[in-house]
Amino acid sequence: MKMAPKGNDVIVSDRKLEMILSMKGGNGEASYANNSQAQAIHAQSMLHLLRETLDNIQLMEPPSETIPFALADLGCSCGNNTLYIVDVIIKHISKRYEASGYEPPEFSAFFSDLPSNDFNTLFQLLPPIGSSMEECLASDTHRSYFAAGVPGSFYRRLFPTRSIDFFHSAFSLHWLSQVPESALDKRSMAYNKGKVYIHGANEHTANAYKKQFQTDLAAFLGARSKEMKRCGSMFLVCLGRTSADPTDQGGPGILFGTHFQDAWNDLVQEGLITGEKRDSFNIPVYASSLQEFKEVVEANGSFVINKLEVFKGGSPLVVKQPDDAAEVGQALANSCRSVAGVLVDAHIGDQLSEELFKRVERRGSCYAKELIEQLQFFHIVASLSFA
Ligand SMILES: C[S@@+](CC[C@H](N)C(=O)[O-])C[C@H]1O[C@@H](n2cnc3c(N)ncnc32)[C@H](O)[C@@H]1O
Repeated sequence: MKMAPKGNDVIVSDRKLEMILSMKGGNGEASYANNSQAQAIHAQSMLHLLRETLDNIQLMEPPSETIPFALADLGCSCGNNTLYIVDVIIKHISKRYEASGYEPPEFSAFFSDLPSNDFNTLFQLLPPIGSSMEECLASDTHRSYFAAGVPGSFYRRLFPTRSIDFFHSAFSLHWLSQVPESALDKRSMAYNKGKVYIHGANEHTANAYKKQFQTDLAAFLGARSKEMKRCGSMFLVCLGRTSADPTDQGGPGILFGTHFQDAWNDLVQEGLITGEKRDSFNIPVYASSLQEFKEVVEANGSFVINKLEVFKGGSPLVVKQPDDAAEVGQALANSCRSVAGVLVDAHIGDQLSEELFKRVERRGSCYAKELIEQLQFFHIVASLSFA
């Protein structure tokens, strides 16, 4: 991603987005590991849809002793959510084998994300491998699969041809491969002047984002169509919106287009950064409509759509006391920072980033009641099988 023309005396990254993007690693207060309970709750509420997709996989009967069942979680990040989902998938497939009177096969689970993902934190969370499938199925303290990390962008090939039975990806595909260049180009009609996100932007900016999303999704499906085994399936969840208008991004619009935006404006007004510096930062996230998503799957043509729907996930803020404005402000700042903090740090440096998120927190506290009432995420859920 081209992030910034040189402005203030701060870090300017012109490295490609895929070389710097990650959720905040480690176990600190603003880490993704400590701020992904909302995603966990939303994923739990969609488990019935995941299980339906797993039931679409054609199992090899009898399972082969030499060929493992291979699954991959794309955009796994570095918290417990990916481990939980992989466990659900393997237990479900094992039960299906047992129900058909066969011993389950061995399982290979691939945890895939961009190279700057904190794979160390993730690997340290992995439970030890169990000595037998029975032991693993009976307890939650052991894993019943061989694990491997796969660094790389899911917008390109990650696995050998016809090697994966099941792809899972949650809360990741709304991350674009890059901010559309025109949104950062002063000479372009799509220049996103004064804004750090497309919520409320002009239609040219919104169209540039939409085009980027559809190009990226097409590349994702193209790569998976080569890697998936012929009997395989795929379960995808990403941020979606209910409005037909892409300048109304819904929940993500509130997350990145209101208090986060105002905090950037504060830095400009206080003379800490220039307006140009702010304008050269854009959040590379796009919440698509169902129709926009569907167009790409249909144009690709490799997959049968078993299910494609917009699902109400709920709030991205998990707070113990919704009446406590300070807690709501802190949850907003931590939630924003856990997903976008690494990009902000790369653009304006750690100290100014700290200042920015302090302002997000303060503003979030002032508007706590509205945030609790209005901040809702919708997700696109896609269950696809090989055509
Ligand atoms: C919000 S996290 C989702 C984590 C996890 N799936 C969960 O359910 O909690 C989004 C993840 O997508 C990853 N991601 C974004 N763009 C990617 C790309 N092009 N290729 C691979 N991973 C990507 C990010 O690095 C991040 O770890």
